[in-house]
Amino acid sequence: MGGNNCKGLLPGGSSVTLGKSPNTGKPEKYDYIEDVVCKETDIEENEMKLLPLGEDGGKVLLIKQKGELHAIGTKCTHYGALLHTGALGDGRIRCPWHGACFNIKTGDIEDYPGLNSLPCYQVNVDESGLVRVKAKRTDLHSNRRVKKMCEQEVNNNTTVVIVGGGPAAATCAESLRQEAFTGNIVMISKENAVPYDRVKVSKTFNINIEQAALRPQSFYNEHKIETKLGIEATGLNTEENVVQLSNNEKLTYNYLFICTGGKARLPDTPGVDLSNIHVLRSYTDSHAINSKLSADKHVVILGLGFIGMEAAAFCVDKCASVTVIGRGTVPLEAVFGEAIGNRIRQQFEEKGIKFIFKNNIEQFIAKEQEAEEGGKKRKRTRVKRVQ
Ligand code: FES
Repeated sequence: MGGNNCKGLLPGGSSVTLGKSPNTGKPEKYDYIEDVVCKETDIEENEMKLLPLGEDGGKVLLIKQKGELHAIGTKCTHYGALLHTGALGDGRIRCPWHGACFNIKTGDIEDYPGLNSLPCYQVNVDESGLVRVKAKRTDLHSNRRVKKMCEQEVNNNTTVVIVGGGPAAATCAESLRQEAFTGNIVMISKENAVPYDRVKVSKTFNINIEQAALRPQSFYNEHKIETKLGIEATGLNTEENVVQLSNNEKLTYNYLFICTGGKARLPDTPGVDLSNIHVLRSYTDSHAINSKLSADKHVVILGLGFIGMEAAAFCVDKCASVTVIGRGTVPLEAVFGEAIGNRIRQQFEEKGIKFIFKNNIEQFIAKEQEAEEGGKKRKRTRVKRVQ
């Protein structure tokens, strides 16, 4: 703490400290909890311990590495995995669920997924060998921290244009402000939404896109990151440093970051351009499929991977039938192996989902064409066996 702080101890290891806000420079009251969490001898080198702090359920993650003790937040800022069950590397922890990385000295996030850092707490060992941790009460309960962002300077005309609206774009934009870039930042996304957690679109088709946003629009407004949504970059002139946009605007850049991501690939199958055939990548794909689900509809899914299986799980109680077709013999085999894949298959079958293995779709036949051929008035999918 700085020399201009004054501190008053409260019962139960709490203290209130008057200091200057790092953001406004004005005096501010911080409510701290400070307590003994363990003995120095209770923790081994390269060990992580989840320990309680204070009396209202707060916890800290204590780590010993290279003879030093560090205390940081306990849960991954992505989806909340307990970090003491993750992997401790040299100076960083890797989350056990999806691999986000956090610096053990600062709590800073160093690898996606997730955008927020962890709070970092003060650790001291007293003369009797007791480990004392001091934490801001709000940090202890929020378990997350946004790294400090610099302000835009009106006289700095340097412009970074980011083409893309996914996590890479979001991370680039906010990292620039965190790393003291004070110029203009313009993010262009052909989707009509600020960057969101795309992984959710195959889990919940009626996804609320505002809730899935990695940061709300107000975050970009506050940090003067311009977002151009529903607009596509259609051309690039690298001699003149100009990006052409679908709304006829031309943007001049000093630095350009292209992070447009991948495209869902439609199979090269006759009839694939008929209506009611969808790929699943964006929230608009997800909403479009959801709008067509009803108790009289039959859903066919091509693919035995995560997206196919998640889609099947979402659709099964919202339509007449769900059939999953795939080249393999077991769902999710590449990720989990045959035994677990078979257990998953069994659970899906118990819910009424049908599988057609070692197959592919040979042709999509429109209702009208089928009616002309004298067939039944229902769209038909021909399935062929993979040799
Ligand atoms: S919960 Fe940690 S990376 Fe997803």
